[in-house]
Amino acid sequence: MVNVLVTGGAGFIGSNFTKFALTEHSDWQITTLDKLTYAGRLENFEGVKNEPRHTFVRGDIADPTIAIPLVEQAEIVVHFAAETHVDRAIMTAGDFIKTDVYGTFVLLEAARNAPKLRRFIQVSTDEVYGSVEEGTSRETDELRPRNPYAASKAGADRLAYSFWATYGMPVIITRVSNNYGPNQFPEKVIPLFITNAIDGCAVPLYGDGLHVRDWLHVRDHCRALDLLIANSEPGEVYNIGGGHEVPNLELTQRILRLLNQPDSLIQHVKDRPGHDRRYCLDTTKLRRLGWRPTVDFAEGLADTVAWYQTHESWWRPIKEGDPAFQSYYQEQYDHRS
Ligand code: NAD
Ligand code: TYD
Repeated sequence: MVNVLVTGGAGFIGSNFTKFALTEHSDWQITTLDKLTYAGRLENFEGVKNEPRHTFVRGDIADPTIAIPLVEQAEIVVHFAAETHVDRAIMTAGDFIKTDVYGTFVLLEAARNAPKLRRFIQVSTDEVYGSVEEGTSRETDELRPRNPYAASKAGADRLAYSFWATYGMPVIITRVSNNYGPNQFPEKVIPLFITNAIDGCAVPLYGDGLHVRDWLHVRDHCRALDLLIANSEPGEVYNIGGGHEVPNLELTQRILRLLNQPDSLIQHVKDRPGHDRRYCLDTTKLRRLGWRPTVDFAEGLADTVAWYQTHESWWRPIKEGDPAFQSYYQEQYDHRS
């Protein structure tokens, strides 16, 4: 059996990847290490709860006593664990530094003593390039992160690279664009707007709504990671982008149309400070390895809307039953309107 460690596996992308990998690789034994912050949900393992090839360990990646033994026995580490929400980083960034930077350091240090390690995948983000008003970001471009989340991810990205350059470790770095799909925590724009609109509530669109994101279905992201685990060069960076550039206003209108809700639910609110105008990735390098996104954006968005419509039992306890989410929502949005 191939021993695979997935950090942050109870979150959105990590849980989708864990389920995808268990289906694709009958010889993988996956251990998920996750702290279960507000964003980590055991419900995300629905469907693989009794899978003997999957073990869940609750713990902090920044705690060496937990991280070291798990990393040392791994052949493949796929490192998703992070604080991930830009708006939370703007409120207070301490946890982003502790997890995204220091936590990554703890894993990398442990990986130096992992005798069977074949790949350490540092899951980074297109946000490390900063805002690109025109053109596309290539892997060799300068990093110009502009918010504390992006800066902490850029720190981890370069730290991972340095462990290849210094110690020759089999590290690769992936920089991925905005993901969407099932099980995304309803603080991010797509699930937030879908769940608000299901209830006929306003959707808070920042600024003029003409900021552009490049959307990638989480399944296509998992396929890209799977390919790179088997076929990549240590020390290299790989962009993973969906190629579906959509301004936020158009995205919002599409969501409302799918739910038969009027555009009047759109509430233009005070912008996010330092809001990056546009991200866009050049994915030539990954495409040369044979990867293409396969999920059509219109279909993927419709499926995602349908998932939230049929999984109220997943998101209502978060939005309605969790006081921490409600106070976050108030703090984040009350002053904006
Ligand atoms: P998420 O917020 O849904 O999940 C993060 C997971 O990490 C949660 O399960 C959480 O409990 C866990 N975690 C947080 N701190 C931890 C710690 N100290 N120790 C152990 N576990 C901890 O995030 P996501 O959207 O699934 O993102 C996964 C990765 O992909 C992140 O590294 C993120 O930066 C990157 N990424 C995400 C996107 C996106 O669109 N979602 C885009 C680019 C890059
Ligand atoms: P988000 O889902 O937070 O991802 P990221 O900041 O990593 O791109 O936001 C996506 C876009 O949607 C971004 O341009 C900010 C915008 N947005 C809103 O307009 N309103 C909201 O309530 C949120 C959460 C985001």
